Formats: sequence, C-alpha cells, structure tokens
Amino acid sequence: MSDQPLVLDIEDLTIRYGGVISAVDNVNLSIRPGEVMGVIGESGSGKSTLAHSILGLLPKSAHIEAARFRLSGRDVNAMDDSERAALRGPLAAMIFQNPMTAFSPIHRLGQQLSDLLWRDGQMSRAEKRERIITMLRRTGIADPAAKLDAYPFQFSGGMLQRVAISAALLMQPALLIADEPTTALDVTTEAQILHLMRELRDQSGVAILMISHHLGVIAELCDRVAVMYAGQIVEEGPVEAIFAAPAHPYTQALLACEPALIRERQGRLPVIAGEVARPGGPGCRFAPRCSVAEELCRQASPPVRPAAAEGQRYRCVRDLA
Ligand SMILES: Nc1ncnc2c1ncn2[C@@H]1O[C@H](COP(=O)(O)OP(=O)(O)OP(=O)(O)O)[C@@H](O)[C@H]1O
Ligand SMILES: [Mg+2]
Repeated sequence: MSDQPLVLDIEDLTIRYGGVISAVDNVNLSIRPGEVMGVIGESGSGKSTLAHSILGLLPKSAHIEAARFRLSGRDVNAMDDSERAALRGPLAAMIFQNPMTAFSPIHRLGQQLSDLLWRDGQMSRAEKRERIITMLRRTGIADPAAKLDAYPFQFSGGMLQRVAISAALLMQPALLIADEPTTALDVTTEAQILHLMRELRDQSGVAILMISHHLGVIAELCDRVAVMYAGQIVEEGPVEAIFAAPAHPYTQALLACEPALIRERQGRLPVIAGEVARPGGPGCRFAPRCSVAEELCRQASPPVRPAAAEGQRYRCVRDLA
C-alpha cells in the first residue's frame, strides 16, 4: 500500500479570481489511497474553489499557482485543459450538491451512464449495461434495469444523488470528491446517502474528499479533516484528535457547541460572531474574530505548527506544545 502514490498531493496552492484576493491561499493537502478527508469551513472559505481546481472545473477568470499539484502521481500542473479533462474520471470524479446539475434533463439515464464508459471501448453494449445495472444496485436503486429508460426528472433528489454516485464510481476514480452532497436533501434521505457513502468507503477502497458544513457528517465519515478559514487551512489532522482537542481558536469556536449535538443534524457549523475579513496584510486572517488574539496576530503571518496528536497541525502564533 505504502508505495502507491498519494491520490492527491498539493503543495502551496493559491487561487485568485481576477483581483488580488485569494479564494484559496497557500494550501497544502494530501490524501492517501482509500483515505477519507473532510473539509469544513463556513460559506466563502474556499472549499468549492479547492475542489473544482482538482478537476480543472474553475472558470477562466481563476488564476492557479501551485508548487506541486499531483493526482495519483500525475503532474496536473503541467497539463493543458484537454489533458486535464481526459483525466477526469479515472483520477478523480465529483458529486455535487444538486444532483440535477449532474445530468442532462433531455437524455435517458441509461444513455448518460453508458456515455461515461466511453474509455472502455472494447466493452460490448451488453457488458456496459450489466456494469451500470450492478453499480446502480450497489448504490441502492431498486429495479435498476427498468430505471435505465427513465429521465432525471422522474427521480427524487435522493434517488438522483444515488445515481450520481453510481455515475462517479462507474469511472473507477482513485478519488471521489463530494461537495456538500447531502445539503439539498431532507434529513432522512441525507442519513441514507451518508450510510451509502460509509459502505462505499468500507468496500471499495476509493479515497474520498468530503466537503461539508455539517460537523456530524465529518465526524462519522472521515479519517482526517482540514478546517478552512478565509482560503487557508487553519488546522488539519486525524478526525478524533481534532474533535477531542482542537488547537486553533477557530476550530475551537466551531466545536464549542454542545458536543452531543455534533453527531446530530444541529451539528451544522455554529455561527461565530463577526465577519470573515480578508486583510491584505501579513496578519492572521482570523484575528479580527479571535477571542485570544494579541497584537502580534495582526502583524505577523502565523506559522503552521505541530499540535499534540500525531499528524495534527495548526496555523497560529500561539505555541501550544
Ligand atoms: N467564479 C467566481 N468568481 C469570483 N469569485 C468567486 C467565484 N467563485 C467563488 N468566488 C469567491 O471565492 C471565495 C471562495 O468561494 P467558494 O465558493 O470556494 O467557497 P465555499 O467554501 O465553497 O462556500 P460555500 O460553503 O458557500 O459553498 C468567496 O469569496 C467567493 O465569493
Ligand atoms: Mg461551496
């Protein structure tokens, strides 16, 4: 296992839309084969921008810089748009918040799923059909053969998200990226989809990058978690370590709500007083809202430090060690 390349290996990634403000700033992120990595952070913290950059889905206005950007050992940094597009699928596939956006409304699902298997040229139509049916069944679609002739609008949101997960997995990606995959669903359906993702995690060995506002989703599904604030990863580490002993004041504020609630629906990110500031200066971006900020925090860029647990790191001027 250990000599397999990382499925995602990013060093010093910065992404700007137009002007000088970086939506993603100096991000380092790595994911091992089979690992489930969570990303949490409030709205606008750069989670989707990060996810879309991995798949080459950012708009033309986005300017990307990275010291290293590799997917399963392939240097994506050096590729042009068409080379990147060709890697979408086998290296990384994505499921979105709204499953409707994943499908064309005017084509039958069977055709759309079959089109995803274009790389498998040698596979017969019957074999493709069999593979699609097996995958749909695996993601909990009843009577999958009959569903192939249906159109997306004939499915509920939850069922269509299952189909979207099937579609992503059909391409046998090394990395499945899920950007708030349950936010648009009702509570019961959300629980079912999470159960499905847990099963897939246990059975398939696919690595997952799970973006969520929902602390419970992260706690239940992920091995590691990265906490984003104003474009930066302010803390990262094993899920148990971060939930048990968060080191960064922002993570501490997120987790300050009743611990018992974290696994419940109410475990969505609590509202923290103040607004996300993006000071252009060198100081800590969280300083304006931080309850323990000192003068130094407004002057110096905080270093990334190791915390108590193995693999836990945080970006702060305070040394807890
Ligand atoms: N196409 C775009 N053009 C310009 N700015 C953008 C664009 N997309 C996102 N941004 C800005 O980049 C920053 C990060 O946005 P992003 O959508 O990545 O955040 P997010 O963490 O996914 O938020 P949410 O939780 O609301 O989905 C925000 O300040 C946002 O306004
Ligand atoms: Mg987003």
